[in-house]
Amino acid sequence: MAARLEVQGLSKRFPGVIALEDVSISVERGEIRALLGENGAGKSTLGKIVAGIHAPSSGTVLIDGEEVRLQDERAAGALGIGIVHQEGSLVPQLSVAENIFAGRQPVGRFGQVLVDQMRAEAARLIGQLGVAIDPARRVAELSAAQAQIVEIAKALSHDLKLLILDEPTAALTLNETDRLFDVVRKLAQSGVSIIYVSHRLAEIFALCDRVSVLKDGRLAGTRDVAATSTDELIRLMVGRDVHLHRQADGRVPGRVVLEARQVAAGVMVRDASVTVRAGEIVCIAGLIGSGRSEFCETIFGARKRSGGTIAIDGNAYRPGGTWDAKAAGVGMVPEDRKTSGLFLGMDIVNNIAATVLDKVSDGAKFSQAKAEALAQNFVVEMRISTPSVRQVVGNLSGGNQQKVLLAKWLAMEPKLLIVDEPTRGVDVGARAEIYRLLRALAAKGVALLVVSSDLPEVLALADRIIVMAEGRTVGTLNGGEATEESVLRLATKFTASVAASRATVGADA
Ligand SMILES: Nc1ncnc2c1ncn2[C@@H]1O[C@H](COP(=O)(O)OP(=O)(O)OP(=O)(O)O)[C@@H](O)[C@H]1O
Ligand SMILES: [Mg+2]
Repeated sequence: MAARLEVQGLSKRFPGVIALEDVSISVERGEIRALLGENGAGKSTLGKIVAGIHAPSSGTVLIDGEEVRLQDERAAGALGIGIVHQEGSLVPQLSVAENIFAGRQPVGRFGQVLVDQMRAEAARLIGQLGVAIDPARRVAELSAAQAQIVEIAKALSHDLKLLILDEPTAALTLNETDRLFDVVRKLAQSGVSIIYVSHRLAEIFALCDRVSVLKDGRLAGTRDVAATSTDELIRLMVGRDVHLHRQADGRVPGRVVLEARQVAAGVMVRDASVTVRAGEIVCIAGLIGSGRSEFCETIFGARKRSGGTIAIDGNAYRPGGTWDAKAAGVGMVPEDRKTSGLFLGMDIVNNIAATVLDKVSDGAKFSQAKAEALAQNFVVEMRISTPSVRQVVGNLSGGNQQKVLLAKWLAMEPKLLIVDEPTRGVDVGARAEIYRLLRALAAKGVALLVVSSDLPEVLALADRIIVMAEGRTVGTLNGGEATEESVLRLATKFTASVAASRATVGADA
């Protein structure tokens, strides 16, 4: 029997970039195949070609032994190929149900859209994932996790032969991830083939049969998951050893920079306190929904405070908005790079220069040369993979966008830098670099407040760990002594085994 999916000699060139070079892969019926590789390795590009979104520069795609040439995503859907995009693809103004059935709503005898039927089917698809979302709601009103669930439900709405999941769990909680895995396993048992893209190696070991590694657009190898190891996969991906574990770098925290006492804001932040010193890295751990991000947004002036006190360098601090925060030397790298951080239509230079106009000016005049030099430094230091500093940020791979976002705020040289999920969607090599950068910033005397859902990351970075639950800070742990279990015990009723199954690479690296 022919393989479900066979790509032969696939190449894809974008201006100045070879995204894929002569890649041949074949995926069997019912197989769950992981696709792994550093940021920019070509994973999403491969998925998009198979799903009809990009045409290959050369090479062929066969489904069940037949060559296909797809015009667009809808044509792929009609053939039974579904894709869940890494960067959301929903239309915010439309309802959940309209998004799921975009362009193919069920119609009645007189051509009228059968709204009730469509909503009922949408609710069923979403229900499979163990979540309830009103199909009539507009996508704009959904949280990132809910939008991700709708994306997945949309892909499941086709009569599937092949499902491509491009980092589907980045915004999901533990429970939702478990339900997704159940659905994926059931689909595979019924003969659907799955391509699963993730930077979370533990997920690949938990879910996949085989794993193909891309490096710089080429296939570096394919392995049986049962017969490989984290170390081997990292070597195939990065070509060198990577260290993500804690490093004693002899920093001694100095003066108190941030002192937040019993802060309250809206319903999400009820009673939260934290102190961060110059040269110190404090991580806030807790479940999604514990109020971590909202607490940070309040410190950054993006949310109105209703109680408590905050001081920066001993001075009372009441930001009326984020401009006041920036003026006081407080920066924040937000969680969601797509809506609240980057100008995707602008190039790297302008994204970075936007926060530091004073540094890239000659007198009152904007200096292109200074802005380019600044951007070039970050591109080299952070190993941002791009043909030039003039590349439009929207064309960079997801992880490289994350690095530009971080660079933008590092350029500001803040006293206090708040970083919400610093390595979401970032590959292992870049992750190690981001850890190094954050430590280097702390060594320069910056106070760092980091929110992370990734426990190995918290353990690797934090001098102190503050745990939040239900809008309250419920405990403090010494970074050097904490374990995943001790953090979780404070944060949740979840068992350690659930956490371990979600832990990303680095737990024992
Ligand atoms: N539309 C585009 N125009 C120009 N270059 C592009 C475009 N799409 C992707 N690229 C480039 O192609 C290369 C591969 O990108 P791709 O998105 O496939 O990487 P990826 O493996 O999915 O990375 P990540 O882990 O960061 O998501 C990158 O160098 C990227 O900048
Ligand atoms: Mg990608």
